[in-house]
Amino acid sequence: MCGIVGYVGAEQATPILLEGLHRLEYRGYDSAGLAVTAGDTLHVTKAAVRVPELRDRVGEGHAATTGIAHTRWATHGEPADANAHPHTDAGKRVAVVHNGMIENADDLRRELLAAGVAPASDTDTEVLAHLTAGQLEDGAASLEEAVRTVLTRVDGAYGIAVVDVTRPQELVVAKDGSPIVLGIGDGEMFVASDLAALVRHTQRVIYLDDGELTTIGAGDYRTSTLGANRTAKTATTVDLTEEDYQLGGFANYMHKEIHEQPEAVRRAVLGRLDERFSTAHLGGLHLDARELRSIHSVKVLGCGSAYYAGEIGANLIEEWARIPADAEPASEFRYRNPVIDPDALYIAVSQSGETKDTLAAVQELKRKGGRVIGLVNAPGSAIARECGNGVFLHAGPEVPVASTKAVTNMAVCFAMLGLLLGRVRDLSVSRGSGIVSALDALPQRIGEVIAVEDRIARVAERFSRAARMFFVGRVWYWPAAREGAQKLKEISYIHAEAYQAAELKHGPLALIDGGMPSVVLVADDELLAKNISTLEQIKARGGPVIAVTSVDLPEGLADEVIRLPRTHPELDPIVFTIALQLFAYHLALGLGKEIDKPRNLAKSVTVE
Ligand code: F6R
Repeated sequence: MCGIVGYVGAEQATPILLEGLHRLEYRGYDSAGLAVTAGDTLHVTKAAVRVPELRDRVGEGHAATTGIAHTRWATHGEPADANAHPHTDAGKRVAVVHNGMIENADDLRRELLAAGVAPASDTDTEVLAHLTAGQLEDGAASLEEAVRTVLTRVDGAYGIAVVDVTRPQELVVAKDGSPIVLGIGDGEMFVASDLAALVRHTQRVIYLDDGELTTIGAGDYRTSTLGANRTAKTATTVDLTEEDYQLGGFANYMHKEIHEQPEAVRRAVLGRLDERFSTAHLGGLHLDARELRSIHSVKVLGCGSAYYAGEIGANLIEEWARIPADAEPASEFRYRNPVIDPDALYIAVSQSGETKDTLAAVQELKRKGGRVIGLVNAPGSAIARECGNGVFLHAGPEVPVASTKAVTNMAVCFAMLGLLLGRVRDLSVSRGSGIVSALDALPQRIGEVIAVEDRIARVAERFSRAARMFFVGRVWYWPAAREGAQKLKEISYIHAEAYQAAELKHGPLALIDGGMPSVVLVADDELLAKNISTLEQIKARGGPVIAVTSVDLPEGLADEVIRLPRTHPELDPIVFTIALQLFAYHLALGLGKEIDKPRNLAKSVTVE
């Protein structure tokens, strides 16, 4: 959710912090702020503004080589100047930036009030600044000790960076439940909630673990647990560079990432498809053939679009491996006291690898002895590390809130997993070989979908005044319809609902009229006649129809047709999903919406 940046070194901190915030703005964009220590003064600039406006307000900034900064997605307290981070104590000795949620903040605030400390904001974070300053005034031996003492009193989730004006060459950083990564430079150290803010400066990083805290100086860091035991960390080299985060001529990141999909899928299948034995090799999956054969059922857990990709995945696994498989929102799973089946394979799917509900579902599963693997895009992320076993998506960094290339790569990785599970069971060589060839050719087919972008844009323009829309799909195309509705809602704010085609007549058909366009997914499969009848039912009630289809439809059945290439009977939903991304994108663009930063949303939902 929120983005955190920190710097200690020899360079001017302000430009580094502002550049880091610019990279992290996709994690929250309600407010932004920074604090630097210059001489014996803590300079704080913060407001309910976007990063460019903060940059204008900061101007040249103060000469300082240590600082922290934050971009906010509001949880406690509305977006307002006072609620923007960093938060300080009354004497402006300590400043704190925080990502997460302090659940016992009200209790702590009451305690502070009783001691005569009046809060300056409605946030949960502010208490941390007051309590830390209190510890320092009471004689804590170090900033780290003060922070440690405060954190032992905190319930909830946090990634924090803290600065103390009397120690201008150090930061204390701690994590429990929200991501924090350290970047190791040459005589300088960086802190961020996300690699995006670091890779411009360094590729050498350290991921903090939950319950760890660290004091960082210009050239060193010491990590320890909340219980004050030293921990040993190993630096990792990430293969991301600044270029991975450039727009490269596109107007926004969503458009860029839609266009990157052929390449992203190519990366996902690279070296993983085995033509000789018609199977897949998934190097990060530490389950041998015997273990793969022992799986009795599969349950996929994810949130939002990752959950819809999980539905595509469950369909593929059940069809190819003949293992009962389904998907469930991770948030529902973790709260409903599910029976954990030791013979099941649980799969946590996540782009960011930081989604709180998905992470909590994994932790719950592990507590109860469930066998869980991850399908994750971000290496080093909490879910990837918690699972320690699984398949990386290789989609590359995803910047805008709306997920596109990661969703596609999730479906592709599920396809490879389904193929592997099928081939150690009773999927035939010839069927396996068809899947391998189709996956190999998928980047080209996706390129063909992108090639009809102009046509999709024209259809989107025609329907851009719609106030609401249905997305209709059956069986294999139901998750694609859900994802299509999700993309449209997210970035255009048009109310969109997905329905299974046969369900329409059990209620939703009552809503069909001239003002309710339906996007109907019509595949070239055994359900074609039924889907044609769905089109007729909608038309008969005066509803405009946009048919997205891989078949030549009879004239007059639809007001608009978006014709797509065929890939493989079970993989076609992937290319349909990509056409719906383009549809949502062009509709939102035509309406002048802010594509990469839709209102009320943030990338990477690290709170409940
Ligand atoms: C929609 C979208 C969200 C995410 C969801 C899970 O475009 O991006 O619905 O899919 O928040 O996020 P991850 O995949 O990071 O766990």
